[in-house]
Amino acid sequence: MISAAGITKRAIQSHYDVATPFYRLLWGPHIHHGLWDDAASTLAPHDAQLRLTETLADLGRLRAGDRVLDVGCGMGGSAILLAKARGCRVTGITLSGLQRRWARTAAWWQGVAAATEFRRADAETEVFAPGSFDVVWSIECTEHLADKRRFFERAAAWLRPGGRVAICAWLAAEDAAATEAKRRQVERVCEAFLCPSLGSFSDYSSWMEQAGLVVDETRDWTSRVARTWELCESRVRSWGIDRLAPWIDPAQALFVDHFSTLLGAYRSGAMQYGCFVAQRPPA
Ligand SMILES: C[S@@+](CC[C@H](N)C(=O)[O-])C[C@H]1O[C@@H](n2cnc3c(N)ncnc32)[C@H](O)[C@@H]1O
Repeated sequence: MISAAGITKRAIQSHYDVATPFYRLLWGPHIHHGLWDDAASTLAPHDAQLRLTETLADLGRLRAGDRVLDVGCGMGGSAILLAKARGCRVTGITLSGLQRRWARTAAWWQGVAAATEFRRADAETEVFAPGSFDVVWSIECTEHLADKRRFFERAAAWLRPGGRVAICAWLAAEDAAATEAKRRQVERVCEAFLCPSLGSFSDYSSWMEQAGLVVDETRDWTSRVARTWELCESRVRSWGIDRLAPWIDPAQALFVDHFSTLLGAYRSGAMQYGCFVAQRPPA
């Protein structure tokens, strides 16, 4: 695991309160990478994001009636899709009050208000009764958590026996901690994108195993998602978002400037992108 000092919850919350309209403009209702089959794929960015969500839902075996906790639910992109397309009942939590309001409104607009609930809550302190969920789902939120090992212990307790964790996360490569240039690249990503740390594939697997979960699937999607940042970079420049950002929030400007940092970290092999599905053993 590679860590960065001084990243606070308040900074993460205020980033999403300020940046969510930018994300909506750049990425649409899902704040996560797209998944392309290969370099020749012509899938549009929004469709590639849906491909990622649907692939995770298939791997996690999400079914009608599943009670799902979406940790770091953003604008409700996954929660609404899982409610509409799969018949799940979804509770979404986010640090951002703006995102919670956005998600609620979008769910109402799309006719799934009754199947969804959104709370402004911290995944590291929020309390849920043991066994409350069939699936704990999270796309690109665990990067922001301070104590990831403890999070998986708590997530395992929220699951009913036989329930699943389905997660996508930005990762540090296995050799990054021991390689000065790669370690620095990952630290810069952590600082720019407000991640207290990035774990590796083996860190995530061992945190889940220590929590009593059995890891069913790990997928390395690095080469299939990296195109996201090329598209973001070119949209930021061609839509003038780089010129707008410093007027709205200086920290936002730093974030926009660092899309190339992330792309560089994927290209050098300092970072990876992973998908995990794990199960709490049936009683
Ligand atoms: C990159 S966005 C991903 C949003 C969403 N999963 C999606 O795919 O559209 C990260 C999300 O994690 C949330 N988040 C970060 N730290 C959190 C925490 N401690 N508790 C709950 N949510 C958190 C943010 O508020 C934001 O909604």
